[in-house]
Order: sequence, then C-alpha cells, then structure tokens
Amino acid sequence: MQKYGVNELRRMFLEFFESKEHLAMKSFSLVPHNDNSLLLINSGMAPLKPYFTGQEIPPRRRVTTCQKCIRTGDIENIGKTARHGTFFEMLGNFSFGDYFKTEAIHWAWEFLTECVGIPADRLYPSVYLDDDEAFRIWNEEIGIPKERIYRFGKEDNFWEIGLGPCGPDSEIFYDRGEEFGCGKPDCKPGCDCDRFLEIWNHVFTQFSKEEDGSYSNLAHPNIDTGMGLERMACVMQDTDSIFDVDTIRYILQGVVEKSGVEYYDGEKPTDVSIRIITDHLRAMTFMIADGIMPSNEGRGYVLRRLIRRAA
Ligand code: ALA
Repeated sequence: MQKYGVNELRRMFLEFFESKEHLAMKSFSLVPHNDNSLLLINSGMAPLKPYFTGQEIPPRRRVTTCQKCIRTGDIENIGKTARHGTFFEMLGNFSFGDYFKTEAIHWAWEFLTECVGIPADRLYPSVYLDDDEAFRIWNEEIGIPKERIYRFGKEDNFWEIGLGPCGPDSEIFYDRGEEFGCGKPDCKPGCDCDRFLEIWNHVFTQFSKEEDGSYSNLAHPNIDTGMGLERMACVMQDTDSIFDVDTIRYILQGVVEKSGVEYYDGEKPTDVSIRIITDHLRAMTFMIADGIMPSNEGRGYVLRRLIRRAA
C-alpha cells in the first residue's frame, strides 16, 4: 500500500466526496453551539445535528468535513492501546435526507479499495443485528462473503451520543494481521485487542433520542459517517500505533527532546507516559485555541484534568 501522510489523507477524503457532489465545510469549533447535551464536540455529526433534525436548512444536502473531536471516555486507555486518543480528527460524509445506505456503502468501499488502495481481503464490515438491507448491500452489491459480515447488537452497532439524531450503524474493520491479535479462538472484528481496527462507521440516522430516553422518528433518513483520520493513517503508514503516524510522531519527538527521556517501542511505562503527554498536548492545544480555559467545571474542568494528567 502507498504510505499517505495525515495531511494527504485528509485532502484525499475531502476531494473524493467533493467529486460525489458534497460541499466540503471547515471543522466546527470544539465548543458546541446551542447543544447542552454535550460538553465538547465528539464526532463529525455533533455540530450538524440541526441539519439532521430539519431544524436548520443545510447549505447543501451532501456535506463532507474533517472535524476536530475530543473524547475522554477512554482516557484510561490512552497510551496503553494502539488506537485511543482524547483528541482526534474525524473525516465524514453526510446526507441530510438525500442519499442513504446504498450510496454510502458503495462510496466507502470505493474510497478504501480504489482511492487509497487497501486490499479488499483485509476489510470486514459489520451491521446492526436485524439490518438485512445493509447486510444485503455488503453481500450482494459489494460482494463480501456472508461469513465475513458480522452482525452486532445495540452496544456495538447502534450509534448515539447525547441527545438527538442516532440510528443503527455499519462499521468497517481493518485486519492488521494475526500477529497483532490476542490469540483467543474467538478473536474477530470488535475484539478488544489491537488486531481489528475499526476505521469507518456509517450511521443510518433515522431516530432522535429525546430527553426522556425515548426514540422518535426523524422526518427523513440521513447518513452520518465517521472515519478516524489518525487510525486511517496508521493503516496506510503501516505503523504500530497512532503515535507513530507522521504528524503525531513529530509531536512525540518534541516531548522526547524536551523531557530527555528516550522512547522505545511503546511498551515501557515511560513510553506510555510520553504517549499520554503527546495526546493530551494535542487535546489541550486545540481546546485552548477554541477559547476554552482551565476551570473547576464543565469543559474547562476537562481541560484542567488533561493538563494535570499530562503534568
Ligand atoms: N457519528 C459516528 C461516529 O462517531 C459516525 O462513529
């Protein structure tokens, strides 16, 4: 596979979806606008919620973005696994009542296998338990054998964060090879080990989660997708972790130089610390750039906690 850099991949993705008549919009701020259900923007779709619900008219019904995101739910895993980061960039293509499952799945496949050239036999899709339509598209239209398509339940294949638009989803996993696996007989896409990397998620946004926990139907079905840029770069650059991709490694190198502590292969306790500092530096830099200041509550407290942990 060709080794594309982070910046190159970002450009390729946006240009690919521009060629499919999407409007490329800039990343929105990390600070949510008119949304009390989130402290920080955590996905490409979060700032676009009003377009999904029909509250606001989108500038075009097809949009693509590379969105700055922060997720601290997995903070304890940062540095220890190959794939977690509190700050990451999420590439996404979105349909507001325009195309649906068929186009979304076909374009994802075209981008991965033709545009960036990932061998098809390294990719495994998953679908929501009873989503026979998505299963059929993967099987009959894309040509993935049935035994390579996984059906998972609500925990894995239903996407929702906070309130608002949500729905069943279809993920794409990249198989990094047996040597990255846990060796358990039931190791498969979705396993917690580092073998199968979830690189892309397609949410078939049909519902809205309400304050009382119920789900209502949206006026029209939508597409919300998310592809982790750093994870994708990991695949393309054939690196062991997101900390080894070009742009992040550059920051990590700065931490090594400032601290005078050597970095080995990511396994030593000092390596984990260097990775944590690298990750948190990225998060805090972008948070401060978006106007957040350390404080005792809300998003300011998240920032304070990140600075403290890194220190
Ligand atoms: N919103 C979906 C996600 O973040 C695409 O995975």
